[in-house]
Amino acid sequence: MQILVVGLGAMGSALVNKWKTSYKLTIIDPFQENCLESIDALPINYTPDIILIAIKPQSLAEVLPEYAKFRNALFISIAAGATCKRYQELLGDVRLSRVMPNLAVQVGESASAYVLNENCTESDDTLIDQLFLKVGILKKLENEKLFDAVTALSGSGPAYVYYLCECMEASAKELGLDAEFAEKFARQTIIGAAATLKELPDSAVQMRANVTSKGGATQAALNILMVGSAMQTLLSKALTAARNRCQYLARKL
Ligand SMILES: NC(=O)c1ccc[n+]([C@@H]2O[C@H](COP(=O)([O-])OP(=O)(O)OC[C@H]3O[C@@H](n4cnc5c(N)ncnc54)[C@H](OP(=O)(O)O)[C@@H]3O)[C@@H](O)[C@H]2O)c1
Repeated sequence: MQILVVGLGAMGSALVNKWKTSYKLTIIDPFQENCLESIDALPINYTPDIILIAIKPQSLAEVLPEYAKFRNALFISIAAGATCKRYQELLGDVRLSRVMPNLAVQVGESASAYVLNENCTESDDTLIDQLFLKVGILKKLENEKLFDAVTALSGSGPAYVYYLCECMEASAKELGLDAEFAEKFARQTIIGAAATLKELPDSAVQMRANVTSKGGATQAALNILMVGSAMQTLLSKALTAARNRCQYLARKL
């Protein structure tokens, strides 16, 4: 299978690293080493089976129209925001899938969701499965309207956890731990908790209950985070802001 990758930034290169042993990849990125500079550098008879679009959303309108000539390829775009309707305006009636992975593709732990446009067939589900099950879990969305909600949850989600890590680190320093210790232990605590979420069958609610003794230290901390649903309210606001931002940006693309 011939895959043409357009854009070798953070996400493009993470996917390329996971796919390069299984597929024949050709990469276009004018600014990266060992890549073709533009579509004009492709061999004359080159016909990709799949075109991965991994450029910034604001570049789509300028870059995509010249790829419309590859009418038989399945286009897979990981760009946030742009809707299937917008891709149709830019590419015409091609087979297109929007996929929303996250940065954890780098370690094979992405939570990726996808939709197919109306030109796709069942065999396109199989292609998406083949590619994205290599980098984590994958779920099909029947309704594109929920795509921005998924972006707010799992696309942006790793950043929320990195921020939690930063906050725990800063708080540990306030309590007197030295910077190196605080950094290392905040990080390992999140790694450990993530590993239990992955390995153990219990729900997050159950695991939290398991480590919270009545009247103990963990409960004292959770009382602060949970009083008046404080943390839940904050996260609801944050995810809603991310979802709304996707909708706003989509209107500008
Ligand atoms: N980062 C995430 O966590 C995440 C998660 C899900 C989805 N996404 C989506 O994935 C896409 C890529 O994100 P990213 O973080 O990988 O961005 P990025 O690091 O900026 O990667 C985009 C790459 O495409 C290159 N490029 C620009 N114009 C090009 C052209 N005409 N042809 C080929 N390549 C071109 C860019 O070069 P220059 O930088 O020199 O312009 C850059 O190397 C975005 O649309 C984003 O919405 C990102």
